[in-house]
Amino acid sequence: MDRGFLFGDGVYEVIPVYAGKVFRLNEHLARLQNSLDSIQISNPYSTEKWQSILTQLLEQAPESDQSIYLQITRGADTARKHRFSELTPTVFIELNPLVPKTKSELETGYHAIIQPDFRWERCDIKATSLLANIMYAQQAKQHQVEEVILHRDQSITEGATSNVFVIRNNTLFTHPTGKHILSGITRDLVIESACHCALNIQESIITIDEVFNADEVWISSSTREVMPITMIDSKQINNGKIGRHWSNVYDHYQALKNA
Ligand code: PDD
Repeated sequence: MDRGFLFGDGVYEVIPVYAGKVFRLNEHLARLQNSLDSIQISNPYSTEKWQSILTQLLEQAPESDQSIYLQITRGADTARKHRFSELTPTVFIELNPLVPKTKSELETGYHAIIQPDFRWERCDIKATSLLANIMYAQQAKQHQVEEVILHRDQSITEGATSNVFVIRNNTLFTHPTGKHILSGITRDLVIESACHCALNIQESIITIDEVFNADEVWISSSTREVMPITMIDSKQINNGKIGRHWSNVYDHYQALKNA
């Protein structure tokens, strides 16, 4: 009778580990706390306890690249009812091998399609109830593309499983944080790297037209890092060429990982 199973009543994090070191753990734990607070689940552990649990787990696979999947559900109830009372949260943690694509693999460029964003108004919560996202992911599989880029009205929000960036005239544009996107930890790292590479940053609305007329389009997530998109809906972006800004930002991102 776990409410995670019955209702998808839970939240999660995906946290990369490079050479045995958890990358940006505090940022992931802060986002986890926001997700838990949003749906009124008490965090079962302190930051120190999370750190010690993850350290213990990682001892099984020292020095390697991994991705931690961490899920917390509201817990098991006695009957299926929508309303909840305080329960003991269920915690599930799994380690998966993480094999980020190499720069030369990424330089081949990736394809995407654009679809209307029919998700709810709380995309800032990293909820395990991901029906809409898996419908988009399956569409991506059927179209043999890497990602589905989503739009509300004329404005691009994010990808089904990533954040989206448009580069035009030395400026990086990305949707502002808020209820329509998940505030990606990698999104912040991409912004940090872009600043370092002397790009201007504009967290503002991107229109569909602007995506098609971009110099470069990228997506980011903890497992994909920063990935160049060279074709959307069968239309080439910048004649299908990988941009120099992507290359610079990719290099800086790698430096942050290995710092
Ligand atoms: N998803 N937006 C959505 C809808 C996502 O599902 C993700 C990541 C991101 C990027 O967030 P971050 O940079 O913190 O990984 C943005 C993870 C990887 C997943 O569901 O597996």
